[in-house]
Amino acid sequence: MAAARGDLLLMAGGIRSGSLNERLIGCAADIANDLGLRTTRLSLSDYPLPLFGAEALTIDEVPEALALKAMFRSHGGVILASPEHNGSVTAMLKNAIDWMSCPSRGEAPQTYGAFRRKAFGLVSASSSPFGGLRGLSQLRHILTTVQALVVPEQLSVPHAHRAFDARGRLADPMLAGLLADLVRSVMEVARA
Ligand SMILES: Cc1cc2nc3c(=O)[nH]c(=O)nc-3n(C[C@H](O)[C@H](O)[C@H](O)COP(=O)(O)O)c2cc1C
Repeated sequence: MAAARGDLLLMAGGIRSGSLNERLIGCAADIANDLGLRTTRLSLSDYPLPLFGAEALTIDEVPEALALKAMFRSHGGVILASPEHNGSVTAMLKNAIDWMSCPSRGEAPQTYGAFRRKAFGLVSASSSPFGGLRGLSQLRHILTTVQALVVPEQLSVPHAHRAFDARGRLADPMLAGLLADLVRSVMEVARA
């Protein structure tokens, strides 16, 4: 069944085996499913993209970029979990955003079909005491530039290597509650 405005897309900004951010995405997906939402989980490993700008390619020449952009376009709400690399968003996620920001055949420049007026919620997990917080400020800036509606709620999970219980859920009820608030907020904006 095709995705709809009320459906939620969830994706981590990295593809490391055992990724803490992928685990956090799993928690958000569980919450969304408990709320009765239809969800789609994506992995960037299924969309191997060339390095943006390295070759003179248009998005129409990169089927993986077109496919990823179509997935984002078809959902009203998106939750991204980004690892923090050197205080910023991962190169892999920035690369994917840069590709998806390109107009495809027939689109005017700066149409931003994958982002414009879509609701985005940002989370991060890191073994550090700050949980990847600095990377999310930059991700918010990037997404706002491509005209996404990024909800004010945000969650960074510190010491994330010990934040999940045996069932993969956030062990701290306060963090789990904040994640549920974020999921609800994204879907409220997506449906508005
Ligand atoms: C090159 C590099 C830079 C990193 N920079 C940061 C950083 O600035 N802040 C941070 O909290 N963690 C940093 N880390 C640690 C990762 O964020 C941490 O390993 C995290 O678990 C990665 O996310 P993942 O588990 O979803 O792959 C860095 C790791 C690498 C390899």
